[in-house]
Amino acid sequence: MPDPAITVERIPELGPERFAEITGGLDDPFETDGLGLQWAEKPVHYVARAEGRLVAHAGLVDVPLTVGGEDHVAGGLGTVIVAAGMRGRGLARLVVGAAMDHARVEGKDFGILFCLESRVGLYARLGWTLVDGEVTARQSDGDVVMPIRTMWIGLRDGASWPAGPVRLRSLPM
Ligand SMILES: CC(C)(COP(=O)(O)OP(=O)(O)OC[C@H]1O[C@@H](n2cnc3c(N)ncnc32)[C@H](O)[C@@H]1OP(=O)(O)O)[C@@H](O)C(=O)NCCC(=O)NCCS
Repeated sequence: MPDPAITVERIPELGPERFAEITGGLDDPFETDGLGLQWAEKPVHYVARAEGRLVAHAGLVDVPLTVGGEDHVAGGLGTVIVAAGMRGRGLARLVVGAAMDHARVEGKDFGILFCLESRVGLYARLGWTLVDGEVTARQSDGDVVMPIRTMWIGLRDGASWPAGPVRLRSLPM
């Protein structure tokens, strides 16, 4: 259980200073710079604070996609980060849960995220499921096959991810 002194709130934007408050200014905290991808801005931000200091963040963006011949707009989760000294206390669970509650209230059927293999276990603990097969996303010079893992979560009772290739009609998040 997270410390009761930790609070979660939505903030209007993250910005480089708040981001650095969480990362401690670490270069490439997601270890994805080497992929050379363009990422979507996230307009919705949930943060956790401990004694006033920002210690965790999860971002959310609408992601239009086609899967199994169906068009959906999923809640795209990204920029999930917990301050180094605060990990292992349930803070990722808190801020990811807040972002997914937001997407659910908006009426989204699914959440979707991209992550490195080493983060799959975390999201599986939070109820996410791996997507099998090819996933493409937009870049400024055309579509790219995503080189990292894709996971989904249902946001309403009975929501089931359709089989088949996934085509994001937006940048990845
Ligand atoms: C990945 C990260 C966000 C996890 O944050 P955290 O606050 O330590 O995660 P939590 O404490 O909320 O963990 C939630 C659950 O996942 C588990 N978990 C956390 N990291 C895990 C991992 N790498 N593999 C397997 N399980 C993991 C925890 O044990 C916990 O399980 P429980 O609630 O059933 O006990 C944090 O390590 C981080 O900021 N890393 C650098 C940035 C990053 O990689 N972000 C993710 C980009 S996709």
